[in-house]
Amino acid sequence: MEELLQQWNGERIVLHFDRRTGAQIIIAIDSTRLGPGTGGTRMKSYPDLTSALYDALRLSTGMTYKFAAADFPRGGAKAVIAIPPDLDPAERPRLLRRYGELIRDLGGRFQTGPDVGTSPADMDIISEAGDPYVFCRTPERGGTGDPGPYTALGVFCGQQAVCERLDGNPSLAGKRILVQGIGSVGRPLIEQLLEAKAEVLFSDVNETVIKHYRDDMRLPFVQPDAVSKTECDILAPCALGGTINPETIPLLRCRAVAGSANNQLATAEDADRLRERDILYAPDFVINAGGAIAATSMENMGWTLDAATDRIRSIHQVLLEIFEVAARQDINTHTAAIRVAERRLSEAG
Ligand code: PHE
Repeated sequence: MEELLQQWNGERIVLHFDRRTGAQIIIAIDSTRLGPGTGGTRMKSYPDLTSALYDALRLSTGMTYKFAAADFPRGGAKAVIAIPPDLDPAERPRLLRRYGELIRDLGGRFQTGPDVGTSPADMDIISEAGDPYVFCRTPERGGTGDPGPYTALGVFCGQQAVCERLDGNPSLAGKRILVQGIGSVGRPLIEQLLEAKAEVLFSDVNETVIKHYRDDMRLPFVQPDAVSKTECDILAPCALGGTINPETIPLLRCRAVAGSANNQLATAEDADRLRERDILYAPDFVINAGGAIAATSMENMGWTLDAATDRIRSIHQVLLEIFEVAARQDINTHTAAIRVAERRLSEAG
């Protein structure tokens, strides 16, 4: 744990232990150089506190890069609520309210929205104390709701950029795209891909979801353990992170990796491994910025939906530039994206 903290270059960590449930609330503010620390709230169980902290710290740095690469005036942060696997559902609202108070006490240095394990309905509860620093409440409560469709739009535009780089044409028509994980991003992404006449394959672990997409939507289902070795143009990881690693990379039969999950690479070196295999990688924190940009700009900065949508569409251009920088400097695309982000951060002083 000490090593973890030494490696992290961030500004502040708030740690709160909830005695009644045994939950640990971690708020990691990585950088406020470009603006208030902003990032989603992840709620799940972890094997131990160290892994929860690791997730929070790494995700918070990802948010700093996400906003910087998008040239968007917000800083990076993330919250993790590490819950026991047997959390009593009746305790959940109280825990969320307590978390809202921590946000209130930070006075705007930290702002949040949903992430893995939290929903707009949860944001409603958190905002009781945490308002106005809690985005994506339900529309009934005046929020912009689920950010998934905005994230999906950015991923869709990013996949077009990938095709433009690979084939000189951004069209996704006829492209074989494997969507791994049908959650709040995978669902709207599949809709857009089908509309664009892409050939969509999917994978998931939930029986009901599998049944719906395989039997009702008639999409080919790929078993979770076969995802890596399935031939496709684009593999789109849209579930949890770490799926691109030294075990899976040698198996891959895709031309590109471009999806919405945060921390897709197990470690930064995996970007070199992808490059050695000539697989184009769209850096996760660049291609998945749509949700955070939409929620933050519309709820916190007074942008219109049109302005937010335009900015999300510009992910296409941002990615093309990153691919160009990577090629020119003979480095992997992950490193290129970090360089672009770090240049923006250092320009900000
Ligand atoms: N959790 C999402 C992300 O990682 C979306 C999000 C972040 C939404 C911040 C609102 C605010 O980008």
